[in-house]
Amino acid sequence: MFDLIIRHANLPDGRRDIDIAILGQTIAAIAPGITAEARDTIDATGRLVAPPFCDPHFHMDATLSLGLPRMNRSGTLLEGIALWGELRPTLSREALVARALRYIDLAVTQGMGAIRTHVDTSDPRLVTVEAMLEVRDLVRDHLDLQIVAFPQDGYYRAPEGAASLTRALDMGVDIVGGIPHFERTMEEGRASVQALCRIAADRGLPVDMHCDETDDPMSRHVETLAAETIRHGLQGRVAGSHLTSMHSMDNYYVSKLIPLMAEARMNVIPNPLINIMLQGRHDTYPKRRGMTRVRELMAAGLNVSFGHDCVMDPWYSMGSGDMLEVGHMAIHVAQMASLDDKAAIFDALTVNSARTMGLQGYGLHKGAHADLVVLQARDPAEALRLKSVKLHVIRRGRIIAQTAPRIGALLIPGREALIDPATGFAPDY
Ligand code: FE2
Repeated sequence: MFDLIIRHANLPDGRRDIDIAILGQTIAAIAPGITAEARDTIDATGRLVAPPFCDPHFHMDATLSLGLPRMNRSGTLLEGIALWGELRPTLSREALVARALRYIDLAVTQGMGAIRTHVDTSDPRLVTVEAMLEVRDLVRDHLDLQIVAFPQDGYYRAPEGAASLTRALDMGVDIVGGIPHFERTMEEGRASVQALCRIAADRGLPVDMHCDETDDPMSRHVETLAAETIRHGLQGRVAGSHLTSMHSMDNYYVSKLIPLMAEARMNVIPNPLINIMLQGRHDTYPKRRGMTRVRELMAAGLNVSFGHDCVMDPWYSMGSGDMLEVGHMAIHVAQMASLDDKAAIFDALTVNSARTMGLQGYGLHKGAHADLVVLQARDPAEALRLKSVKLHVIRRGRIIAQTAPRIGALLIPGREALIDPATGFAPDY
């Protein structure tokens, strides 16, 4: 007798009509036609069942603060940073916790199972860090929250940048962050990457840096990050977030850079929604897209996962907590629209991001955590196309969120019908 069986599911790898049996907090069996009984059953006929979405790059301390203390008029990254600098002294731990919990509630209903959040350590009060450490404990049963110490105003550029980051790590922050392109000079940027990688090596921590989030084709911090990763033996434990300068770099230089990144086994985290919104702002026409070279990085064997980055904050007034929205934008900006491309993009929102985050027990196999999402879609391509409803969200064997399917009622005389956008419309392919 199992606790829960999801019957007749489609899986992301293309298998159809599969049953998934759950015992306690674990997947006990995945096979067609499981005959055993269960206390609960979900009929997933024609529905995609996937492991949860994981967001490897977010800013939980800024989310849902849109309009505080004012709106970003120019819409640029730099005005966003300035605006955040105005808001930061007014932040309270209580308000930060409340906003983070509201966002996590939203994200969980969209099938989110894990979030890696950067937390600004520039204000020596570190109220942001205190709040996110509290949130990490509060949400443990709903979602895995990882925290990156992020020196928003610069590790060297901010008056107490280095000391505050060290204190944040001492308080229990998981990951070392950085922002080399925001340091005063290219040289100080390089020195910050070197110092931060040394700290990570000494403390046995992973690294996740905002790196070269600029349109400057001469920004070279990705190269330094890869070299320092190899120097300290941190291969596979370092992530480069954004890497937008790679969009504008000389092709010959990139032909040398990508193999270096592969040697470092760097995890690459583009943020399609924010990159397409913030990059290319100094261009007239043609305007650059600014997202890093996703197809080429994937082809070189690098682990690419996409982040949501921002939802309703000083940098981005949009966003929904739905990683399918992120993938939808990635398909367009990277021009990756074949079936294989869409499968790769779906993986980048799920298994690749779980790998970036080093999550244990993740995936669709016997013995994995029973963390699952049932979608109103037949397959990953349809889920991305429709940004499908997440019908059931399961965490450690328990259904923790449900959403009614999106069904339209057509009332035209003679054509009356209930319309499910996920069935019966697309031809078989
Ligand atoms: Fe970011």
